[in-house]
Amino acid sequence: MTDIPLTPRPGGGVPQPITLRGGPGRGDAPDTFWRQIGGRPTFERLVRRFYEGVRTDDVLWPMYPENDLEGAIQRLTGFLEQYWGGPTAYSDERGHPRLRMRHMPFTVTPEARDRWLLHMRAAVDDLELSPLHDATLWDYLERAAHAMVNAPGA
Ligand code: HEM
Repeated sequence: MTDIPLTPRPGGGVPQPITLRGGPGRGDAPDTFWRQIGGRPTFERLVRRFYEGVRTDDVLWPMYPENDLEGAIQRLTGFLEQYWGGPTAYSDERGHPRLRMRHMPFTVTPEARDRWLLHMRAAVDDLELSPLHDATLWDYLERAAHAMVNAPGA
């Protein structure tokens, strides 16, 4: 699978061609989006809140590993942290993200995408970010979710 061309604008700067595979900046950089919105605690809050919604969802929840919710939380948190310039623990443990490929075992329909986004929207709302940070994060999540659909007609 080739990189999915997504063009979010972290920090509102000049548009840069980036992909689902790695994000702008790194954890030791002085001013990353990861740091601006509060680092690890913010990302973990986001993902825990997201999974609270997923657990109530009768389309999404059956897709997730029932005995490894904590693992799923850590994987998504780690990926998002890395994408936004935080620590690279995700790739240290899991290798290259290759997210579209990793989602192939799951039937990601437009309905599943919309539900994923619904729970993620509620989780982002909970963070009460500045409008620019909110828009930057949301733009990426929406584009990424659309790119993850692998069963468009289902
Ligand atoms: C569009 C709807 C989506 C559905 C239905 C979906 C579903 C899933 C499921 C069932 C898993 C397995 C849980 C686990 O064991 O970790 C998973 C993993 C994961 N998802 Fe999604 N996902 C969606 C979108 C996204 C998006 C937009 C992102 C990134 C922004 C994402 C990032 C991840 C990551 C990082 C993992 C762990 C991959 C690994 O290392 O194995 N997903 N997803």
